[in-house]
Amino acid sequence: MESDSRVDILPLRLNDYEKIVFFTGAGMSEESGIPTYRGKGGIWKQYNYKNYACQSAFEQNPEDVLDFHETRRRMAISCQPHSGHKVISRIERVHPTVSVITQNIDGMHQRSGSKNVIELHGSLWRVRCTCNGSREDFGETYKHRKCPDCGKWLRPDIIWFEDELNSHVYTRSTNIISDSDLFISIGTSAVVYPAAGLPLSAKMHGARCIEINIDYTEGSALYHDNFIGKAGEILPQLFPDAL
Ligand code: APR
Repeated sequence: MESDSRVDILPLRLNDYEKIVFFTGAGMSEESGIPTYRGKGGIWKQYNYKNYACQSAFEQNPEDVLDFHETRRRMAISCQPHSGHKVISRIERVHPTVSVITQNIDGMHQRSGSKNVIELHGSLWRVRCTCNGSREDFGETYKHRKCPDCGKWLRPDIIWFEDELNSHVYTRSTNIISDSDLFISIGTSAVVYPAAGLPLSAKMHGARCIEINIDYTEGSALYHDNFIGKAGEILPQLFPDAL
């Protein structure tokens, strides 16, 4: 990979694009104070996902898994959306077709005012049970740890390792992406599939593809433009009228 592209960020004209997708990963929330998964200080450097983020761990030790997710809930509640989130939610207000497709479970886009958010990997703020599906549950601690209807442990409604994505959510995302003409990927290492395959799909369907990341990633070569820097710094430069 050659030189640094921090210089000369030419603002994008929203009117040049009909259907815009912001595709976000943990790096989008990093400036809010939420750690990423794989970078320095990343969650999977501190915790073994096998003990906290897979169905078998939940079956063996639901209390530990719920404690872990409560720690994450407390952390997320103490953080605030940053200027990058605000740029996205403001663009959503002035442009007719903007979708946010996120791998993040922290709800930060919605807290910043985004309405059209697809959560590929579920949400920290929902639980589910085999008896009656998923329900909202917002707060530092879970309202109930066991289902009031059937008495089973309530499972965080999050896509964990080895889980399949929700097929309805995935299909909706691929449909939106194949129809988009501007696809902006922000703060994802692009190593977790099938989400990591979505940028290629956007490119194959003809979207202009832009990557914003503090570093190059395994997927960087497919993008038309790579902006190396923080989401909260690059987004306001790309869309100066949105702030
Ligand atoms: N601005 C932009 N990019 C950033 C910033 C920032 N301020 N800080 C970090 N990054 C980049 C890193 O360089 C890295 O490429 O964000 C990326 C974060 O990568 P991961 O930690 O792997 O997060 P993500 O890609 O979202 O992980 C995908 O893995 O464990 C699962 O389900 C979890 O949804 C998650 C999935």
